[in-house]
Order: sequence, then C-alpha cells, then structure tokens
Amino acid sequence: MPGTTAILSVAALAALSAYIVPPVRHELKVLGVGRSVVSTIANANDYVRIEDTTHCEDLHYYAPANLLFTACEDRHTRFDWFPPLGSFDPPEDGTQGSIHVIDPETFVTHGIDVIADPQAKDAVYIFAVNHYPNPEFVSSRREHIIKSNSRVELFRHVIGSSTLKHIRTISHKLIETPNDIYAVSPSEFYVTNDHRHREGLMRELEAVAPFAWSNTIHVSITDLSAISETAGLEASIALTGTKNNNGLGHVHDFNEVTVVSAERGILYRCFADPQNKTLRIEETVHLDTRGIDLAGNTRNPSAKDPTFVWLVQRKQSSNIEKDATAEGAWEKKLVFADDGAKLRTASAAVIVGIDPKKEGGKKKGWLFATGFMSENVVATKIDL
Ligand SMILES: *[C@@H]1O[C@H](CO)[C@@H](O)[C@H](O)[C@H]1NC(C)=O
Repeated sequence: MPGTTAILSVAALAALSAYIVPPVRHELKVLGVGRSVVSTIANANDYVRIEDTTHCEDLHYYAPANLLFTACEDRHTRFDWFPPLGSFDPPEDGTQGSIHVIDPETFVTHGIDVIADPQAKDAVYIFAVNHYPNPEFVSSRREHIIKSNSRVELFRHVIGSSTLKHIRTISHKLIETPNDIYAVSPSEFYVTNDHRHREGLMRELEAVAPFAWSNTIHVSITDLSAISETAGLEASIALTGTKNNNGLGHVHDFNEVTVVSAERGILYRCFADPQNKTLRIEETVHLDTRGIDLAGNTRNPSAKDPTFVWLVQRKQSSNIEKDATAEGAWEKKLVFADDGAKLRTASAAVIVGIDPKKEGGKKKGWLFATGFMSENVVATKIDL
C-alpha cells in the first residue's frame, strides 16, 4: 500500500502460521518490533543464519522431539500477495507455503511436502493459517470483492518423516483476518482476527484510530473428516475489546492463553472460561516498544526493517506456582536487536536452552528468530 502512512503491527502479519499440539513450551514470551538499532550480536560464533528458511512467519519448539517447526513461504511472492499487509496481486503461478523442521542442535532444515494421504501414527498436529486467494478475484481482478479467502488448515505430521497429512480445511464467517492460532487440542483452537478491515480507507482508519476492533474466536471441530470446509464446526467470539490482537502463545504447564497486541506493545494474560470458552484478561503487561511504520516497505524486496526481540520473564525471585495467576513480577530484557540486515521484520522467536555443562556451567540458550519478510531464520546464543 504505497503512499499510505498507516502504522501496522509486526507480529500481526501471518501468511502461514504453524501450531503444534500438544502445546509447545512457551515459558518465555517474546515480541519483536523495532526501529533504529545497535546490534546485540557481540560474537560471530554466537550467530547462525539458517539456510532454506525464506519468509518464515512463525516458529514453534516441540520439546518431546527437540525440534523447531516453522512455516515458510519459500519464494518472494509476499511482496505481491500478502493480505495482512494489503498486498493483493496474486502471482501468476499461484501462491505456496511449506512447513520446515529445524534441528536446534545442528541447525539443519528439512522441507516437508504436503501430500494427500500418508500413513501417520503418534503424530503432531499442525494448524496453519492460509491466506488463500479468492479464485473469483484471481480470475476477474474485480475490486470490491473479498480478495482473500483466509482460512485455517489442519495437518498431521509423523516426527522424523518428510510428509504432512492434510486433515481438513476450516472456513467460518467469524474467521476473517486470521493471524495466529492457539491449539487446545486437535479439534479445538483459538484464532485471532487482527483487523476488522482488510484494505482501503477503513483499514487505514483502523490502523490509526483508537478503536478496539480486533477479536479472538474460539473454534470447535465437531467432525475432523468433514469434506466441506465449513461443515462440522462451531465458532464463537472469545475475546473483544483489544486493539489489533495478533500473537497467541502458550505458557508451559499452565492453561494460560497469551494474547499479544504487537501494534500497541501489550501482552494480555488470559484464561478460558471452562463452560463458554470465552477469554478473561487476568493481567496486562506493557512492553516498552511500539509498532513500526512498515507501509512504505511492504512491497520492496531489498528494504531493511530493523528488529528487536524482547524477553518477558517472571522474576527469578518470584514464586512460579503462585505467579502463573498472580499479577506483576515481570522482567523485560532486549535479547536481540538488528538493523534489518540479518533479520528483517521479527514475527516470532523461540529460546532453546543449552546444557550448562557445554557452556562452563553458565545458563545460556539459542534464540531462534524469524521474520515474515526475512530471507532467513537466524539463531543467536544468549545469556539466560
Ligand atoms: C461466559 O462465562 C462467564 C463466566 O460465567 C461470563 O462472565 C460471561 O458473560 C460468559 N460469556 C458469554 C458470551 O456467555
């Protein structure tokens, strides 16, 4: 959307977000946004650029198998087709995406093909947001019709295999501008709608006005094998009153649902009502940061968008059991900063701890960070 000056959120912009059941360990919550920067990478040995990870939006750590999962675009089609940023020129040869698995010790990636019907047992389930172009728009290019049929795809993956099984597509009128997913089980999830308006004047107004128009939807899949993408589903509004809610996260060992507004730099600690599944905000954590002006760069492959990653962590001294539901006691630390040359646009980050024996008894971890418009996923060693 050249020429507009709307403030757009960073973590808000999912084209394809992968989520894994059972829930991944998110003891540490991260939000990346930024402007001008002094690099935090002090030592070249503590930095790895991971090959074959272009425009990967989201990153999840699956502890039982010690593997990272990321959803990538692989090509540069995002500069033409990326509904979250208002880019609506579908590429001639179609859009695509893929799920990659990264070994956090060797940093080796494995591309995964999506195929129709592999055998699968003891698999992980992966939910992915799919900004599928509306075929009617692709063929007619008429304005004033909905250009993206954004929806959610559910896959099953056998750890160690090179295939994903597509379980079903999930389309619902309440899922309009899906951004992030919180999987409760293979048949239940929350999804954020990060904006009410997809494009145009109202979208610009939504970006700058103080209206809290975004929401989070709860979805139950009553029929996992339904052929119709709209059948066998129940959906309801779980959370309203937040502006531009986009990121969702798990907290290890607790049923907390973390909801993030990247544009406002606010993290909401939420809990689900056991009966009606609505989310109640228990605590609001403000991060010392703000959304960035991305609008001028969204269609420019060579632009750099600086990145910051903040680590928000319970204070060491606090009682973790009690703290999961208690207020306060948060420490915020800048763990990654870059001018955009190494990592462009930060949309997700994960920390994988390193055995202290390998680090002379020190508590360290690899921070993996990705950006929805970054050439690569990167990893840096940080102190914890
Ligand atoms: C859900 O349940 C909570 C707690 O009982 C209640 O406060 C809230 O109004 C309910 N919401 C809906 C949409 O039913």
